[in-house]
Amino acid sequence: MMPKAPILLMAPFALFAHDLMPVPAKLQPAAGRLRIDRNFAFVQLNGYREPRLEAAAARLVEHVARKTGIPMAPGIGVHAPAPPLVVYCDHSSAPVQTAQEDESYRLTVTPVGARLDAPNPLGVLRGMETFLQLVDLDAAGFGVPAVTIEDHPRFPWRGLMLDVARHWMPLADVKRTLDGMAAVKLNVFHWHLSENQGFRIESKRFPKLQEMGSDGQYYTQDQVREAIAYARDRGIRVIPEFDMPGHTTAWFVGYPELASAPGPYQIERQWGIFDPAMDPTREETYQFLDAFIGEMAALFPDEYFHIGGDEVNGKQWDANPRIRKFMRAHGIKGNEDLQAYFTRRVQGIVEKHGKKMIGWDEILSKDMPHNILVQSWRGPKALADAARQGVSGILSNGYYLDLGYSAAHHYAVDPLGDGAADLSADEKQRVLGGEACMWSEFVTPELLDARVWPRMAAIAERFWSPQNVTDVADMYRRLGAVSRDLEWLGLTHVSEYEKMLARLAGGGQVAPVRTLAEVVEPVKDYAREEAHPYDAFAPLNRLIDAARADSETVRRFAALVDRMGAEDLPRIREWLTLWRDNHARLPPVMANSALLAEDAEISKNLSAIAEAGLQALDRLQSTQPRDAAWIAEKRALLDRAKQPKAELLLSVEPPIRKLIEAAR
Ligand code: ACM
Repeated sequence: MMPKAPILLMAPFALFAHDLMPVPAKLQPAAGRLRIDRNFAFVQLNGYREPRLEAAAARLVEHVARKTGIPMAPGIGVHAPAPPLVVYCDHSSAPVQTAQEDESYRLTVTPVGARLDAPNPLGVLRGMETFLQLVDLDAAGFGVPAVTIEDHPRFPWRGLMLDVARHWMPLADVKRTLDGMAAVKLNVFHWHLSENQGFRIESKRFPKLQEMGSDGQYYTQDQVREAIAYARDRGIRVIPEFDMPGHTTAWFVGYPELASAPGPYQIERQWGIFDPAMDPTREETYQFLDAFIGEMAALFPDEYFHIGGDEVNGKQWDANPRIRKFMRAHGIKGNEDLQAYFTRRVQGIVEKHGKKMIGWDEILSKDMPHNILVQSWRGPKALADAARQGVSGILSNGYYLDLGYSAAHHYAVDPLGDGAADLSADEKQRVLGGEACMWSEFVTPELLDARVWPRMAAIAERFWSPQNVTDVADMYRRLGAVSRDLEWLGLTHVSEYEKMLARLAGGGQVAPVRTLAEVVEPVKDYAREEAHPYDAFAPLNRLIDAARADSETVRRFAALVDRMGAEDLPRIREWLTLWRDNHARLPPVMANSALLAEDAEISKNLSAIAEAGLQALDRLQSTQPRDAAWIAEKRALLDRAKQPKAELLLSVEPPIRKLIEAAR
C-alpha cells in the first residue's frame, strides 16, 4: 500500500470547540470573550440565597484561582466595575435532595459579564461547574468564550458506587471523590459500606460490627454526617449500601448468630464469592436488621436505602437442616425463593423506617412491591425486564471501572441502549439513569483517582448529555481537558501516577519506566483475579497498578497508523524507535528495583514488535516485493507479544500489527 496523501483537516475558519464535559443540552456560541483576571473574585448572588450558595460562590472563585494561578480572595474584587458573574436563583430545592429535582440552568457569557440563572441551587451548582470548565487560556490571557448555554440532564440518577470495604478509603478520599463527581455533574454517591472483607461504619447499637469487623478502619457517625453535608453542598445524594444476605462475613465476626452456619468467623482476606450468608429463617435476624436499619436510616437522609442482595451462593443454606426444614414447612422451593422471602421481609423493614429499597438485580421477584429500585449489574436486559414489570431501575452493567476497559468502551454503553431500546415511552421513564462502580479489590486510596478518573467523566457525559452525543474522538479531546481540570480541583490521578512510576524506578531513571508504562494496560475483566490469588494485603505497587486502563499514547499512535499520511511516517518512526530502544535503557533501572523484574519480558516484546514495525515502515517506503516469509514471521511474533505478561497487555500491539499488515 502506498502512503496516502495527507488529508487537509483544517477548516478555513476555526469552529467553536468547547472543552465541556458533559456536553450541554444546548449551546450557542457568540462573539468575543469575557476576560478572567484578578477581578473575577467577585460573584454576586441574587434571588433565593442559602449558605450552600455562598459556599459554592466562594468555591468557584477558589477553583478559578487554582486553574489560572491568579491569587484571589472570594468577594475581594480589585477595581471591579461590575461583578463578572451574576447568579439568579429562584427558589430552594428539596430539604433532602431527591431523584426528581430540577437541575437545569441557563448560562450567558458576554465580553462584559456572565449571568447564571437557575430555578434552584442545584442548577446553580451545575452551571458554576460549566463556567469553570469554560475558563481557558488563549493568546490574550485567561477568559471564557461568549456563549449561551441552556442545560439540563438526560437522566435524573447519575452515580458512582465506591467500595470502601475491600480496601479501606478514609474520609479524605471520599471527599476528593465527591469533588470530582461535582465537577462532572454526577449526583449520587453510592457508598458500599459492608462486605466480607470489612464493615466500615460505626454502629452505636451493634458496636461489635465495626469493633470486630473492620481492623479499626471505619467511619464514625460524625464522619458520615460530615460526608453527607459535604455531598449536599455539591448537589450529591448519598446512598448507603449494606449488602445482605451474602457478602456479610465481616458482620458475623461480632455477631455469628446472624449467619446460617455456626462460627466463629474471621474477616475475609481473599477476593471472590463466599459461602457465609444471613439466616433468613430466624426471627432474630429480622429483629437485628430492624434495629440496625433503623439506626442507619436515621443517619442517612436519602429516600433510598441499598440492601445489596447480590451473589448469594446458597451453600450455607443447603448445609443447614433447620433451614431446609423451614423451607419445606413454608413451601419455599429453592434458594432463590428463600432469598426472595428474605428480601421481602427486609423491604418491609426498610419501608417501616421511611425508605425505599434499592438493590442489585437479584432483589427482583414477582411479589416484590413496585416502589423498589433495581440496580442492574447483570445487563440491560434485567433492567428492561424490570421496567416492563413496572419497576424502576438504573444501569451499572457496562460501567464497571474495575474491569480495566477504556473510556470509549463505557461511553458506548447507554442506559436506554440494547435491551431497553424497544421499551415503550412509559417504560423508558422507569430507567432513571446509571451508576459507575468502583470495586476495590485492586484499589487503594493511592490508586483510587487513577482508577476512577478521567474515565468516570466520559460515563458522566453519557448520563447527562443528549443521547446523540457519541463522537468518541471529540470525547477524548474533551476528556484531556477535564482531566487537567480535575487535578486543579485536587484529584490525583496524574500526580499519583507520576509518584508510582518514581517508586517503580527506585532511585533510577523514571523515563524508561514511563515509556513502558504508557504502552501497556492491565488485563481486562476478571483476568487479574484469575491470574493468581490475591488477598487484602497483597502489594499494589507493580507496573499493572500504575498502568492506565486507557493509554493516550497508544490512542495517538493508533491514529497516526490509521491515517498514515506522509507527514505521519516520521512520527511513527520516532515512536517505534523509542520503543525498540527502551529495552536497553531499562536494565540499569531494573538492577535496583525488585518491582520491575517481572516486566523484563514485556519490555523485550515491546522492543521486538517495535523493530518489526520499523521494518514495516522501511517496506512501506520502498518498492520491495511481497514477502510471505517475512509477514508469517512477524505475525507469529505479534501473537506471542499479545499474551499477557505480569498481568499486563502490550496495548500498542494492535496498531503495530496494523502497520505490519499494511506493509505486506
Ligand atoms: C456485583 O457486581 N456483584 C454487584
